[in-house]
Amino acid sequence: MRILITGGHVIDPSQEFAGRADIVIEDGLIKTFAKDKKLRNNGLPEHIMVIDAAGMWVVPGLIDMHTHLREPGYENKETIKTGTMAALRGGFTTVCAMPNTNPVNDNPGVTEFILKKARAEGNARVLPIGAVTKGQMGEELAPIYMMREAGCIAFSDDGRPVANPLIMRRALEYAKGLDALIISHAEDPLLSGGGVMNEGLLSATMGLKGSPAIAEEVMIYRDIALSELTGGRVHIAHVSTLGGVRVIRQAKERGVAVTAETCPHYFSLTQEAVTGFNTHAKVNPPLRTQKDVEAIKEGLKDGAIDIIATDHAPHGRAEKASRQFDDAPPGISGLETALPLSLALVEKGVLSEMELIRKLTRNPARILRIDGGTLMEGMPAELAIVDTQRRFVLKAGSFMSLGKNTPFDGMELKGAVVKTIFGEKVMEWQPA
Ligand code: DOR
Repeated sequence: MRILITGGHVIDPSQEFAGRADIVIEDGLIKTFAKDKKLRNNGLPEHIMVIDAAGMWVVPGLIDMHTHLREPGYENKETIKTGTMAALRGGFTTVCAMPNTNPVNDNPGVTEFILKKARAEGNARVLPIGAVTKGQMGEELAPIYMMREAGCIAFSDDGRPVANPLIMRRALEYAKGLDALIISHAEDPLLSGGGVMNEGLLSATMGLKGSPAIAEEVMIYRDIALSELTGGRVHIAHVSTLGGVRVIRQAKERGVAVTAETCPHYFSLTQEAVTGFNTHAKVNPPLRTQKDVEAIKEGLKDGAIDIIATDHAPHGRAEKASRQFDDAPPGISGLETALPLSLALVEKGVLSEMELIRKLTRNPARILRIDGGTLMEGMPAELAIVDTQRRFVLKAGSFMSLGKNTPFDGMELKGAVVKTIFGEKVMEWQPA
């Protein structure tokens, strides 16, 4: 099949290109990337599907380094099939699947199961992340070498920290030898002490146990120090605090090979979103203060934070709706809102369009050491077409994801993915 995408505003950080370009796709690959040229009526073969992208952005398929696909074990929350369809709907063509499934992805058997399922039923590319420790229990290292051989792209106990510093040291030493990436869920469990929202006046007023910012900062500091000691590569997941951004920035200034991500909810919302005991705004780490939000934006702007990831964490309706705030599971279904929420950063002048798309494509590809996130000729055709001006009221009920849990339900958002192309597949979307 041949496709011509014409008239769009193409942004491809891998080629440092932003401007008018026409793209021809043939047999699932980018055949031609024609800058400042119109290919239409210009010796094009017949039988070509023409997509008029006038007024739209055309960007490489987004890469999410932090997705919970829930399969195996929690298919009531999400499956590989539904999660990857939600990914495409959000403009993501690659997702990295966190290991906190049941069973945990802590051995090659589970990794192989995920990859097999993804080949059979997946709609987008799935890169499994293996657990650092067996059962994510933080006690004994998982067979990292074998899991890497089986196809794990990185290692993390996400959902839980690796609390024992000796285990983390060993994991990083091991990772160094294999040139593997360790993703840190940075939370000191003794300091967070079972807190369910940000610690402060609001948590005290609401009578809820708070999780202080220092629980994140201390752990980021520890993992950076261990990375420096061992030479193992560490990536800090879901940074939410001012102090965390500072520690990462200082480490980068010293030349430490640390990388970091934040998620749209940490620059879009503050802790006030949990007012009224709104379980949809319960997430781990918790939503913080306006000062933290500003620091996250500053970190995105100056490069302390390399990427935006979704931490797509779908949960069943009843788990969020009919439980007390204390008992509701943390997490936000994020794949289908990440791009509009992130586009607000361009609108507010925090990031240029190039920098935003870099943090959603090229930077994750660089950190993961994969080839994706590019529209270069010869590469697989993976791209999203975005109407950045389209306003819509979010209806979580219409998510492709089984997880309808989002604090953004009913809000007006701006910027909608209208088409996603993944190889031979062309998907067309209405905004949620
Ligand atoms: O809010 C969260 N939900 N944070 C995590 O670290 C885990 C995730 C989940 O698995 O639901």
